[in-house]
Amino acid sequence: MTNYAIILAAGKGTRMKSDLPKVLHQVAGISMVEHVFRSVSAINPAKKVTIIGHKADLVKDVVGEQSHFVLQKEQLGTGHAVMMAEAELAGLEGQTLVIAGDTPLITGESLKNLVDFHSNHKNVATILTAEADNPFGYGRIIRNQNDEVTKIVEQKDASDFEQQVKEINTGTYVFDNKRLFEALKNITTNNAQGEYYLTDVIGIFKQLGEKVGAYKLRDFDESLGVNDRVALSRAERVMRQRINHQHMVNGVSFIDPKTTYIDIDVSLDSEVILEPNVTLKGKTKVGQASTITNGSYLVDATIGKNVTITASMIEESIVEDNVTVGPYAHIRPQSHLSQNVHIGNFVEVKSSTVGKNTKSGHLTYLGNATIGSGVNIGAGTIIANYDGQNKFKTTVGDNAFIGSNSTIIAPVNVGENAITAAGSTIHQDVPEDSLAIGRGRQVNKEGYAVKMPHHPSQK
Ligand code: UD1
Ligand code: MG
Repeated sequence: MTNYAIILAAGKGTRMKSDLPKVLHQVAGISMVEHVFRSVSAINPAKKVTIIGHKADLVKDVVGEQSHFVLQKEQLGTGHAVMMAEAELAGLEGQTLVIAGDTPLITGESLKNLVDFHSNHKNVATILTAEADNPFGYGRIIRNQNDEVTKIVEQKDASDFEQQVKEINTGTYVFDNKRLFEALKNITTNNAQGEYYLTDVIGIFKQLGEKVGAYKLRDFDESLGVNDRVALSRAERVMRQRINHQHMVNGVSFIDPKTTYIDIDVSLDSEVILEPNVTLKGKTKVGQASTITNGSYLVDATIGKNVTITASMIEESIVEDNVTVGPYAHIRPQSHLSQNVHIGNFVEVKSSTVGKNTKSGHLTYLGNATIGSGVNIGAGTIIANYDGQNKFKTTVGDNAFIGSNSTIIAPVNVGENAITAAGSTIHQDVPEDSLAIGRGRQVNKEGYAVKMPHHPSQK
């Protein structure tokens, strides 16, 4: 049987109180609608149709080429949204999954089970349902004495009795494709919200004597529909538990998984140790046996093996094996730290390459620089790379020694094995093997201090 999928993503998400369309709010580093697409791929749909409306272009950009798009100009309800998909799916033989873009936790496995259940039971419609402790806000699954589903009632339309029902509609369904669009011709806006409800097709099928069923999820968490930021944070928490659990199974140690925040596309090798309050974002990769300590925040960073990052921030940079960073270092985008580099406390590195075994231990700014291997950068070194308009490059040759508190005014090249004296302002190239001293000479005025008021002899 051929599968199709309709993803509902036209709504504004009023309850989010946001300029961003609801389905673009992120959970663990990617938007909710992308989570939905990843799960939907498990049923291999021959065609996917996304219904877009509110800020359609933004949603289209995120979803990209994996889907066809249909515009729902006015958001008149979920039933109306699905009607729009007829333009793409009319007359096709097969079964169509309909899923809301705001249910990021539904897994691909559950969608496969739902689709299989639907075909095995030869249903015309199958609803994915779940048992909720607090069903408030969801559509309720109404069953007859024979336990057959007869209809779905929305929260705002539910009688007191119906509100007691804990089985909820997850907003995901499988339908016979042709029968779906026929049934949609019969829905009305005759309800508490004045909307075309997709959920009404269930009652319509039932009245026609068609076979309608429900496949119940074991885990309510999967069904979470995000309508406000409270639910968004809950989705984030559940997703985080899943992600962290998988990493632990793969051999990563967490001191406190509850306070370790890892985006879905982060990859971690075995023996990695993560301390509390570590955040790993984007496409960060961490190599084997590296340790990331408390408070570190990594975004799109590529970290090698046996690296120690202590309470530091690293963005869009490469850190090779056996490097140590921090505490309190900031490695900014387009930096590359080669093997065995040491970057110490209060060091900022930006758009710079640092060669093997080089050390920069304290209170330093390295910007737009190419630094060789075996270099020692003294405490308080500043590369002055910016004149207020343009940025300039600095190179430092292998085994050079930059004295403490050197100010290097770019563009400048410091040769191999060269030394800059502590406290120097370096604004000219330093040839290899040379010592550069760029500071005022010290003058000692002997006996002068005796005349000063603080001198013990004046008191
Ligand atoms: C819907 C279901 C409810 C279910 C819940 C599960 C209906 C009438 N109700 O309610 O039974 O328990 O989901 O989370 O379907 N959308 C459009 N166009 C529209 C309206 C909505 O594309 O005109 C999209 C939204 O962007 C969203 C999805 O459809 O992704 C669901 O809409 P939402 O308003 O969140 O429905 P719920 O009130 O949550
Ligand atoms: Mg919803």
